[in-house]
Amino acid sequence: MINGNRVVLRDKRLADAQDDYRWQTDPELAQLDAVLSLATSFPQYLSDYANELRYSSPIRRRFAIETPDGKHIGNCVYYDINETKGEAELGIIIGNRDYWDKGYGADAISTLGSYIFRETNLQRIYLKTLESNSRAQRCFKKCGFTPYGHLNKDGYNFVLMEIHRKQWQERQTES
Ligand SMILES: CC(C)(COP(=O)(O)OP(=O)(O)OC[C@H]1O[C@@H](n2cnc3c(N)ncnc32)[C@H](O)[C@@H]1OP(=O)(O)O)[C@@H](O)C(=O)NCCC(=O)NCCS
Repeated sequence: MINGNRVVLRDKRLADAQDDYRWQTDPELAQLDAVLSLATSFPQYLSDYANELRYSSPIRRRFAIETPDGKHIGNCVYYDINETKGEAELGIIIGNRDYWDKGYGADAISTLGSYIFRETNLQRIYLKTLESNSRAQRCFKKCGFTPYGHLNKDGYNFVLMEIHRKQWQERQTES
């Protein structure tokens, strides 16, 4: 368990599958994340989910995002962990719309970023988000991420954003 100000990050569990399935089959959420919404049946999804939970990956760490009273509202992850380059990509979803625009996303990112820079030797966290996703960009900027380029992939236009350990630490000292 990692405690933030508004959220708690915890390991994923089988009981998350229903929420995750609902979010991954939601066309609007899929569009905001530049992916296709999932077409798998729930029984198949659940079986794959259970298998995945059995194995931890050396290049990925996933967390559920909960409110302090234990409501599962989203997920965050750092993945493509590259120890040689000292970097990893960050991903986040607040699947429950009732919790958008209330600072939960920013707190989850701040909490995860602090965890990464405290517990690992990674020097840089990067991410991509759609150019059209102004909410996500605003949220990442609030957390100190800065744009460093653009990517056109599979017909989608992304903004690339990053933060380095030094910048993260400077922000912690300032606050
Ligand atoms: C993107 C996401 C993680 C952000 O989390 P969140 O909890 O909603 O974000 P926060 O409340 O911390 O910050 C959102 C900011 O964007 C602002 N915002 C909302 N809509 C906006 C818009 N259309 N244009 C500009 N800013 C906007 C909010 O006012 C808030 O800024 P403020 O705190 O200065 O008022 C979450 O909304 C989400 O998962 N959305 C659906 C899926 C998605 O977008 N996935 C792509 C992620 S890369």
